[in-house]
Amino acid sequence: MDSKIGVDERVADLLRRLTLEEKFSLCAGKGLWSTKPVKRLGIKSLRMTDGPHGVSALGSFFKKCTYFPTSICRAATWNLELSKRFGAALAEEARSIGCNVVLAPGVNIVRTPLCGRTFEYQTEDPYLNSKMTVAVVSGIQSKMVAACVKHFACNNQETNRRKVSAEVGERALMEIYLPAFEAAVKEADAWSVMASYNKVNGTYSCENRNLLVERLREEWGFRGFVVSDWYAASSTSGTEGCVNGGLSLEMPGKGKRYKAKALRRAFEEGRFSEDALDRNLAGLLRAMFLVGMFDDERDLPKGSRNTPEHRSLAREIAEEGIVLLKNEGESLPLKEGVKRVAALGPNADKKTGFGGGSSMVRPLYEITPLRGLEERCRGKATIVREPKDADAAIVFAGFAHSLLKGTDYEGKDRRGLDLPEEQIDLIQETAEANPRTIVVLVNGGPIAMDAWIGKVPAVVEAWYAGLEAGRAIASILFGDVNPSGKLPLTFPKKLSDSPAHASERTFPGGEKVYYDEGVFVGYRHFDAWGIEPLFPFGHGLSYTQFLYENLGIKGGKVSGENTFEVSLEVTNVGGRPGSEVVQLYVQDVEASVERPPKELKGFEKVRLEPRQKEKVAFTLGRRDLSFWDERANRWIAEEGTFRILVGSSSRDIRLMGELEYRG
Ligand code: BGC
Repeated sequence: MDSKIGVDERVADLLRRLTLEEKFSLCAGKGLWSTKPVKRLGIKSLRMTDGPHGVSALGSFFKKCTYFPTSICRAATWNLELSKRFGAALAEEARSIGCNVVLAPGVNIVRTPLCGRTFEYQTEDPYLNSKMTVAVVSGIQSKMVAACVKHFACNNQETNRRKVSAEVGERALMEIYLPAFEAAVKEADAWSVMASYNKVNGTYSCENRNLLVERLREEWGFRGFVVSDWYAASSTSGTEGCVNGGLSLEMPGKGKRYKAKALRRAFEEGRFSEDALDRNLAGLLRAMFLVGMFDDERDLPKGSRNTPEHRSLAREIAEEGIVLLKNEGESLPLKEGVKRVAALGPNADKKTGFGGGSSMVRPLYEITPLRGLEERCRGKATIVREPKDADAAIVFAGFAHSLLKGTDYEGKDRRGLDLPEEQIDLIQETAEANPRTIVVLVNGGPIAMDAWIGKVPAVVEAWYAGLEAGRAIASILFGDVNPSGKLPLTFPKKLSDSPAHASERTFPGGEKVYYDEGVFVGYRHFDAWGIEPLFPFGHGLSYTQFLYENLGIKGGKVSGENTFEVSLEVTNVGGRPGSEVVQLYVQDVEASVERPPKELKGFEKVRLEPRQKEKVAFTLGRRDLSFWDERANRWIAEEGTFRILVGSSSRDIRLMGELEYRG
């Protein structure tokens, strides 16, 4: 109880005081969302809640909480500071309902555009993923709430998620699937990690010693606890497999593998040691100390929810995360003189917060796109249903995120990339009636558009953008806010273009799903095979234009661990203030293994007034030039020339330079 003593010492002390039976009791939860208390030692219940875009309805027992934009929308902001503020706000909301752990962020790589939980994840790119993850975890934990980075690892599809084995090579694990988890541990000291439902290379994550002990603890230095995804431990081979495998806590309560009786028997039969148990539990106790469970309640932050600050943060994230995909003939922004706006489509007035699965949030209110538009047009323009004589027609298309008949939903992958037929018809009919037809998509991931995109001048990707979504969409449409979101994933033209869809073996698989594409995930695949995407990774338009110039590479000849600096200047050469996400990619010109033609290794979001110029600088080092060498079992940067590509998207490279790495 002495908060002046260091945490590690307190953990060791508490471990010494716990009896074996008490330790067993801490291994499994009590009910859906808590751990068991140990009254004798003043250990209270640790309380958990989802989730990735707000305190969930289930975890809060249906309390009203802020519905923030979903993770894919937040990732599209490419704004780390916003992500950190989001994490802090999420933690405040969790605190206000007495929770000490938020089961977030969800950081699985978007391997297939069909993954039902794409909306809950961040991106197809490991670098963007790592940066965003570190920002969110730091934000959450800055408020004395534990982040729980999930789902470790390779839960990249929902089909058969409780059984499937992700068959994935070491290089792809190291370069693509694990970096965000590694960064969360090394750079943000994540206090907990959630082990996924699936198997990785034949072993369930909850008993995967290679993942939970060797990599997480021994290689990365993880000091937190590992919790099973809900009911995931029950699929494992047995109690000792989980203890020896590194699982700290089985959730939810009652448990199967970590029932006291099962633990006692396995222990008595010598199937696991007390040291293994202590290693797993130390991280749980550490988190309990760090969230202040042993401190005087009066000294702890109280938390807050549904505050005006949280609501305006939700709006800010939405405004920065909405992506302007297409804008021909300056169809957008809508001019102030617009008098009649037609609003159509199934998602015009649909609420999206209370849907999607475990992450669902019950917000105080939700501004639908239609309501946002009505508010913005009040006294200036009328909203009509008929596109014919309107100054502009807006079709709000996309998917349902609802409990019933949902798409973009946990537990289920989407069946295809296309919009439902009736929506395609609606877009086409509207475009015929009104040449200024704008499609606003409300959905969680890539959509194919070949059938209709040529017929409409403008398309906006609005995602599931939180309780203020409607207002954010209206401010983008009218130009009150200049769009600055960039796609955190590739939009393919058709499903067969995307890397996981070579065959049934690669998706959805059967007992096993083979990650045959290796490291060629997302744009790495499109670039390597020269496939034209519908919209490339990093793409997003603005109402202003940016000029890139004066690329400089300081230390153009580098060796060993020396770093080098890449700098350039960006100028807003258009007529409106705006933000640009400057993206830096690296290309190894010649390598002994196949490498992606480009890999993101830096980005910076800069806000510029018209005619304002700013210098942007990146520091890179050996690891940014490296690939994972499976034979040598380490990161290797090979000698030779590397190209530095800087641009406004992965397919809009504006500046190029070279550097020599001398090994
Ligand atoms: C989900 C997790 C979630 C947990 C608790 C599971 O079904 O996969 O993401 O945190 O439930 O709600």
